[in-house]
Amino acid sequence: MKIIAGNWKMNGTRTNLENMINELSSINTENTIILCVPYTMLNVKSDKIAIGAQDISQHTHGAYTGEVSAQMVADAGAKYTIIGHSECRQYHGDTNDTVRTKAEQALANGLTPIICVGETMDEKQAGKTMTIIESGVRESIPLDTKSPIIIAYEPRWAIGAGLTPTHDEIATAHTLIANTLTDMGLTGTPVLYGASVKGSNAAEIMSIPNVDGVLVGGASLKSDEFIPIITSVK
Ligand code: 13P
Repeated sequence: MKIIAGNWKMNGTRTNLENMINELSSINTENTIILCVPYTMLNVKSDKIAIGAQDISQHTHGAYTGEVSAQMVADAGAKYTIIGHSECRQYHGDTNDTVRTKAEQALANGLTPIICVGETMDEKQAGKTMTIIESGVRESIPLDTKSPIIIAYEPRWAIGAGLTPTHDEIATAHTLIANTLTDMGLTGTPVLYGASVKGSNAAEIMSIPNVDGVLVGGASLKSDEFIPIITSVK
């Protein structure tokens, strides 16, 4: 059983989500399906698909115009939230420290955080991939975490680029993350791979040891691209 999560980013409408839920309702799968959608769609209901947000505020409440708290997201019906996505790190200045604070907010409000880590192209070319991944994991997870969390390894240079790391690069990154989590006393934490996942590469990626599922961007927006990913593994 794998976790197949979609990240709709700033795309779609409530009708699009309702249609997607309808189309996914007939597929036969034991995999966990999560759709992380814009805030405006968080109260769309589904028995089969869990709904998640894409980010939350690091604050509980107050004068933070435009921000949405973990409590509000949970109140709207979400069960998950992505935190520290590459685009939030790039455009909103999220750091491992803010990601950890947001993860604390998520856990305090009963949300499962999907914490993203991954290296940029500059970091990759400077030979820093392993350091960035390990520090991302160690610094972004709240200390003494007991509640479930999910980690997503998203090589930032590969997102939306149609590029994927090699099989060995994914295997090495996921082994490092698994070992780091064990060292931190976290067992049973699923680790997803994300960046340019599609129907044609999903099964191979999810056959790599320590890859517990995928976080899918563009290919999660249309059912004819998303369903083959969900059904590519048991
Ligand atoms: P793509 O699948 O479009 O590369 O996006 C990946 C991603 O950012 C998922 O969070």
